[in-house]
Amino acid sequence: MQIETRKTTPYSDQKPGTSGLRKKVKVFTQENYLENFVQSVFDTLGDVAGQTLVLGGDGRYFNRQAAQTIIKMAAANGVGRLLVGQGGLLSTPAASCLIRKYKAHGGFVLSASHNPGGPDEDFGIKYNGINGGPAPESLTNAVYARSQAITEYKIAAIPDLDLDTLGETALDGITVAVVDPVGDYAQLMEHLFDFSLIKSALTTGAISLCFDAMHAITGPYAKRILEDRLGAMPGSVINGVPLEDFGGGHPDPNLVYAHELAALMYGPGAPTLGAASDGDGDRNMIMGSKFFVTPSDSVAVMAANAHLLPGYKSGLRGVARSMPTSQAVDRVAAAMGIDCYETPTGWKFFGNLLDARKITLCGEESFGTGSDHVREKDGLWAVLFWLNLVAVRKQSVADIVKEHWKKFGRDYYSRHDYEGMDLAAGEGVMAHLRGQLPDLPGRSFGAYKVAFADDFSYTDPVDGSVSDKQGIRIGFDNGSRMVFRLSGTGTEGATLRIYLERYERDPALHNQDTQVFLADLIALAEQLGGVKQRSGMVAPTVIT
Ligand code: G6P
Ligand code: ZN
Repeated sequence: MQIETRKTTPYSDQKPGTSGLRKKVKVFTQENYLENFVQSVFDTLGDVAGQTLVLGGDGRYFNRQAAQTIIKMAAANGVGRLLVGQGGLLSTPAASCLIRKYKAHGGFVLSASHNPGGPDEDFGIKYNGINGGPAPESLTNAVYARSQAITEYKIAAIPDLDLDTLGETALDGITVAVVDPVGDYAQLMEHLFDFSLIKSALTTGAISLCFDAMHAITGPYAKRILEDRLGAMPGSVINGVPLEDFGGGHPDPNLVYAHELAALMYGPGAPTLGAASDGDGDRNMIMGSKFFVTPSDSVAVMAANAHLLPGYKSGLRGVARSMPTSQAVDRVAAAMGIDCYETPTGWKFFGNLLDARKITLCGEESFGTGSDHVREKDGLWAVLFWLNLVAVRKQSVADIVKEHWKKFGRDYYSRHDYEGMDLAAGEGVMAHLRGQLPDLPGRSFGAYKVAFADDFSYTDPVDGSVSDKQGIRIGFDNGSRMVFRLSGTGTEGATLRIYLERYERDPALHNQDTQVFLADLIALAEQLGGVKQRSGMVAPTVIT
């Protein structure tokens, strides 16, 4: 095998964001752009001689081409064994599963998650470490630093490999194994959940299901697990064929983008459970018949009920949520007498807590939930969790959630996103809020008295690392809260997110319209942040 060392020059913009390096395809296809980043990862990792790496992606445009390049670079950089998902495909949680199961050194996941795909849309690449989770900031910062100084990269002069046929190819030094992307992951799910109970509920018609794969990676996984293995009616999986441009859609499971599912679930004869996942299969949206479960409620309900499912029957060690996620799960943890950690946005922050066995379950408002079974959030896992739960409790999704509220109170919750905002305006809003922080505590705004106001800083309890400026939190003495932060996953301009929550203990008030119930808080957020005024935008672009 001939290895070439090619000269290159740095790109200045290869700093990974919340979840890897995400850019427009046109940026990624610039000369040596991908190669520079991949070599920067190899240079940062150091000696990978003889190690195993995992490789796969969500099937978006440029996935195949990028996979071929990475295979050749892995060969040139001394990797011993590469496990590649058939067709270059792997969902993010399945990649995490493979890294852990086969004790790989890490892996490359090719995805821009929920961002649209296609020649004019987004591509992304992230590196996951030995625990199967997203690389910590120490590594991504080092990769970025390396990318600023890179002068050459290594690549093997070999032809493209056949990624569609299962099996191993031994090249000199490296073995490339094209593996079934679904098998190992499905086996793990079977170990965690009561498949025979779910199967009997689905085949007897006690439970019906619609899963919207949004033309993204979960299609093949959902068909194999939900339809073939668990007996859901054929057709229960919709939009199940992965497409390079996701059928022109936005593969983000929320009520706006998963509109086909939402319409079905609010229509006549809606199935018992409706669910959707995102581009790379790590997000989830859960719905019941005419009922939407907020992700913040979902993780709280999961925490309260986990002991009913086989994989979690011995109870939870602790739980965690990202800072902007509602405080619903905190109440469950307090009642159960277990720890609840508040981390910055980004799944990577859960990694240390999971590895140190401080938590079993964690979740984010951004439609992510997961557990210690892998080191990524996991869309299909969440669907199977809810399926199992509905089958065990023999109640509707809505009844399960309403009963939960009765016991713990309800955290009304909504996120208002302002996408495509001018970057300077977005940063201006944050600076304006930051400037007010010292004066806010103790001040009253109508019924709302500020209990605390800060720019969230997190000290990792395991390694002591500190992450500053993770979002502005303003909490009130009645338990309500608002959070402002700039998204770390966008590729154009700024996306400003306002997260609003209000706690209500009284069950008589648990069936209000969320936006109406939060109206005072929404107005107060505008008064404090001046988002509309400063950006010139008249309304949020997405409300979840
Ligand atoms: C990705 C990460 C999540 C994060 C989400 C939202 O999906 O994996 O952990 O919550 O992005 O990030 P953003 O910065 O756009 O709010
Ligand atoms: Zn994703």
